[in-house]
Amino acid sequence: MDDEPLRHLPKVELHVHLEGSFDSDRIAELAEEAGEQLPGDPQSILRPRNLSELLERLDWWCGLVRAPEQAFRQAYDFAARLGADGVAYAEVIVNPSHWRGLRREALLEAVSAGFDQAARDGHCDAWLLVSLLRSQSAGEALEVVEALAAQPPSRLVGLSIDGNEAETGPTGKRFAPAFALAGALGLGRTAHAGESSGPEGIISALDDLGVRRIDHGVRCVEDPELMGRLATEGVALNVCLTSNVELLYGSIDRHPLAALVDGGLAVTINTDDPVTLGVTLTSEFALAQQVCRWGMRGAIAATDTAIRASFAPASRVSELRKRLSEFAAEARSERT
Ligand code: ADE
Ligand code: ZN
Repeated sequence: MDDEPLRHLPKVELHVHLEGSFDSDRIAELAEEAGEQLPGDPQSILRPRNLSELLERLDWWCGLVRAPEQAFRQAYDFAARLGADGVAYAEVIVNPSHWRGLRREALLEAVSAGFDQAARDGHCDAWLLVSLLRSQSAGEALEVVEALAAQPPSRLVGLSIDGNEAETGPTGKRFAPAFALAGALGLGRTAHAGESSGPEGIISALDDLGVRRIDHGVRCVEDPELMGRLATEGVALNVCLTSNVELLYGSIDRHPLAALVDGGLAVTINTDDPVTLGVTLTSEFALAQQVCRWGMRGAIAATDTAIRASFAPASRVSELRKRLSEFAAEARSERT
């Protein structure tokens, strides 16, 4: 299938980790600059077999970043890569707990500066979701949000949480105060749930963390009542097909995307850890088209859902929707 029309779709990405944007050359270069040995051959380092292995690798290669200039470059190149793939706007998860070689404030300032410069140069307009790790304590989580309140990085739009809920067990109550403070500060809120946790993780994200947007969320299909609630409340599920195949389902044939779409849920398409997984947003849209047999119209609808679920201000939402309708009108005129 020709992916070119999907590359031109002015896409919006809401679930993508900067930590998952390191390629083997960059890892080798950073390792050399840091004077560290690679723990294996570069290709196998980049192919984690499960979520815990992925999280360990993220710790390792993000920990090689020791200077703000390196973080700036990672952020800039990331936004340039998304721009070249036709991503107009992105909200990018950055979890400072993985970047142990840099102070948190220095990291977030450098990433914001990299995104600023990339936007000025006409690449993707990328914004920052600072993320907590499910294994952190309530005190650590609250301290992160208090620091964001005291000194907000210029590109900050929201708070996120990720990590491995299969290992930590339920943690919603532990993170409730941090998420409540983020809400009071007017920050957007999103949470990984329904990937390494089942439906109960999604319910906790809604009720304990107050989110109206879920990263993954695919395991809601195990609970029809929850699916109904998500559809009624218009909660967006930021789905990542290849990530779910690699870390959860083992095969695209077992992925529930079609059931989510048929159930009337607000589904968006995303990449999660694009370089680690070897995907782009265009290739994930192409895969979604195969799974759901939707044409360009389905891809446009998912993009509109993403724009409406974004934490962008109303004026930016209108601009993005206008650009999308212009693209849709052109796509229709090409079909007739
Ligand atoms: N951090 C990076 N990728 C992740 C994923 N798929 N699930 C949870 N935490 C993550
Ligand atoms: Zn993720």
